[in-house]
Amino acid sequence: MTTATFGTITADALLREAKLARQSSYAPYSNCRVGAALLTREGKIYRGCNIENAAFGPTVCAERVAIFKAISEGCSRGDFLAIAVVGGKKEETAGRFPPCGVCRQVLREFCDPQAMAVILENDDGTPFRLTLADLLPHSFGPDFL
Ligand code: THU
Repeated sequence: MTTATFGTITADALLREAKLARQSSYAPYSNCRVGAALLTREGKIYRGCNIENAAFGPTVCAERVAIFKAISEGCSRGDFLAIAVVGGKKEETAGRFPPCGVCRQVLREFCDPQAMAVILENDDGTPFRLTLADLLPHSFGPDFL
């Protein structure tokens, strides 16, 4: 099986970046540590991790941290090729950890649903690739306004 490639970066490499991002996770309440790696067309990678809060509500997911970092540093809608996400309670990740509904909608704001690749991790550590449209079909987005 050939590994999907995004520019010069393989899906495996993007998953590894997500695992590095996960090392910074702050999750003392759920103990569920999540990492995301967001790839731009220029080949830049923005890492994100979940950041929890004692008041629970202010908790932010790894995917949104990554995308908000990118937008706040000058990236624009359409700049993104792929995002890899890993998570779980165990020390080592394994198994698919899909983005929550809120993160799917935030990705929808800035990415073409058909083109945006979402890379998850299979039980055996290999990449599982789908699109944002797979995760958020018939979605609402900026094109409606
Ligand atoms: N979490 C993420 O970081 N991304 C998701 O898409 C789902 C959930 C985090 C939030 C919280 O810190 C923990 O996982 C448990 O919900």
